Amino acid sequence: MSTLYHVLGAKQFDREQLDRLFGSAKEMEQVAVRGGIQRYPNKIMSTLFFEASTRTRFSFESAMHRLGGRVIGTENASQFSSTIKGETLEDTIRIIAGYSDLIVMRHTEIGAAKRAAAVSGVPVINAGDGSGEHPTQALLDLYTIQKEFGGIDGVHIAMIGDLTYGRTVHSLSYLLANYKDVRISFVSPDNVRIPTYVKQYLEEKRVAYEESSDLEALAGSADVFYQTRIQKERFPSLEEYSKAEGKFIIDRKLVDAMKRNALILHPLPRAGEIDTEVDGDPRAAYFRQAQNGLYIRMALIEQCLGGERQGGEG
Ligand code: CP
Repeated sequence: MSTLYHVLGAKQFDREQLDRLFGSAKEMEQVAVRGGIQRYPNKIMSTLFFEASTRTRFSFESAMHRLGGRVIGTENASQFSSTIKGETLEDTIRIIAGYSDLIVMRHTEIGAAKRAAAVSGVPVINAGDGSGEHPTQALLDLYTIQKEFGGIDGVHIAMIGDLTYGRTVHSLSYLLANYKDVRISFVSPDNVRIPTYVKQYLEEKRVAYEESSDLEALAGSADVFYQTRIQKERFPSLEEYSKAEGKFIIDRKLVDAMKRNALILHPLPRAGEIDTEVDGDPRAAYFRQAQNGLYIRMALIEQCLGGERQGGEG
């Protein structure tokens, strides 16, 4: 591992780093409101996306533009990069690192970001690696909770939906282990439960968690409802997918049973698991959450380009 500041997984962040990042994101909100700043006019960020994205790619690209930098890249990299000719990920990264100062990559395979970082001459940010992790999403999720609640210690969060293939819940669980008296209720269909390796990490860190299949029972007690999409594209068969889809929907009736200051989050995109009739409720924070992605990613770009030191398990 080089001494470059890569963002590869959520376990690399400790409390002090999170506090610093969130402080920087808060400042970035003001920078963005003013239209941006010419901080990195000579820097180029590459975006290399092997999987579809709206929020992550656009917010990273917008973040770099707001910081005065430039962006090159490709979506659908499996088709539109020389990967289709058989080039290895390692060779692709070596080449792109020579053309830019930072690489933001989304890939289909768990561990791809670490492989990229191992050969890259510039920082690499993991924008999602298969069903592994999505650390920058979890950072913006946590930032949203802090902003909306004023703190994260003591929060009771229900993570709902596809907890096996949904990478954001893995990263969010790891980040929450930095906070005191957090309680996590994992609510999922039986065939997409939270992986054992995530539970083992929470046990090591002494984070209280439980698994449940009764969302209604949690409606009046949880503070945060973190809904997720059933990741149809990752299932081995349509038959398996059909066992998981449509099980836990957040609708008006459920929201009516929630605490008045509860928070409803979703990394988005959604595919029916939050009814649109909920959107107007002040507790529905998922669009504010997506907006926070811009500020967190501006702060992350600054850390990568500004010489933040690598720590933890990154
Ligand atoms: N939440 C998220 O990663 O969205 P995109 O897939 O649109 O980037």
